[in-house]
Amino acid sequence: SAAEKGGHDYFMLKEIEEQPEALANTLRGHFSGGSVVLDEQRMTEQDLRDIDKVFVVACGSAYHSGLLAKYAIEHWCRVPVEVELASEFRYRDPVLGRDTLVVAISQSGETADTLEAVRHARTQHARVLAICNTNGAQIPRESDAVLYTHAGPEIGVAATKTFLAQVAANYLVGLALAQARGTKYSDEVEREFSELAAMPEAVRRVLATVEQVRELSRETADSKAVLFLGRHVGYPIALEGALKLKELAYMHAEGFAAGELKHGPIALIEDRLPVVVMMPSAKGRAQLHAKMLSNIREIQARGARTIVIAEEGDETVRPFADELVEIPAVPTLLQPLVSTVPLQVLSAEIARTRGYDVDKPRNLAKSVTVE
Ligand code: AGP
Repeated sequence: SAAEKGGHDYFMLKEIEEQPEALANTLRGHFSGGSVVLDEQRMTEQDLRDIDKVFVVACGSAYHSGLLAKYAIEHWCRVPVEVELASEFRYRDPVLGRDTLVVAISQSGETADTLEAVRHARTQHARVLAICNTNGAQIPRESDAVLYTHAGPEIGVAATKTFLAQVAANYLVGLALAQARGTKYSDEVEREFSELAAMPEAVRRVLATVEQVRELSRETADSKAVLFLGRHVGYPIALEGALKLKELAYMHAEGFAAGELKHGPIALIEDRLPVVVMMPSAKGRAQLHAKMLSNIREIQARGARTIVIAEEGDETVRPFADELVEIPAVPTLLQPLVSTVPLQVLSAEIARTRGYDVDKPRNLAKSVTVE
């Protein structure tokens, strides 16, 4: 009923609105006296301290959240991190041992590919930490440590609030690892941690501005394809934006690292092709920002219709944006928590304009329990 859906036609739209709360719930209870606490821990502090390599394994949207873990954990902890699709992981015989931490991310905790990756890791004596949204699911049961996202049940097949919760959970794992290793934080890292707590409010502010995204979505609904470009943490978000559009609107959509454009994908640009650009922070990542500006200029000159997601107050980008969507300015690593929201609205709204059921996209199941 409409009441169950919080007055919306679809659960997905309700779940998009629930994100500030979901994020707050993920953060709540995992901080105590300035340090991170996991929900379950069957490994010792010493085990955690000895970790010298991290693999993140997951599928779909969870994999995209995992790509962000690499940016955070390497930067914060100085431990090498590899992120891998769970379905590929065990088949290539990865190098694993007692000092390897495998972070398995799964909303359902029942995804067969991820579960088998966990089982393989354990046979190789690696430690496994699960990030999961479902209490007592199989993946957390078979792991050495668990961090539950507590985002609440998600009915829509497309991951929304659980994706944001996974991103935050990845950062908490990074923080837990940094603490166990006694890493000395820089001021920048301190600021990133302290602003994590302010993110539910930042997401609330983005939600208040999405009407503009709804409008521009309707104008995009009859395009034959949409491209997404990002750099640094904007790159996994470009991949996630493209996945959402495929899943919900059945449109051809691709996410690219903007630096790869001239190595091939720029050949796809044609007149009026919508290209969504995730703009890096002007202050936080000035170099990347400048490079992205020149990427936008290049594609606009070739006729693309540029839809630019940028920090509020970023005036430099305005001349190159056919559509400019503003998001709150937050520390770089936290930007995905706000920049994902307009992409969710974009894909849901395009799908609705095309007449599709966004809660139950064709051919997809919420939880994939076969490999
Ligand atoms: C829903 O289709 C999701 N977008 C999908 O990619 C999902 O993230 C993936 O199947 C993994 O699911 P899990 O988090 O439950 O393991």
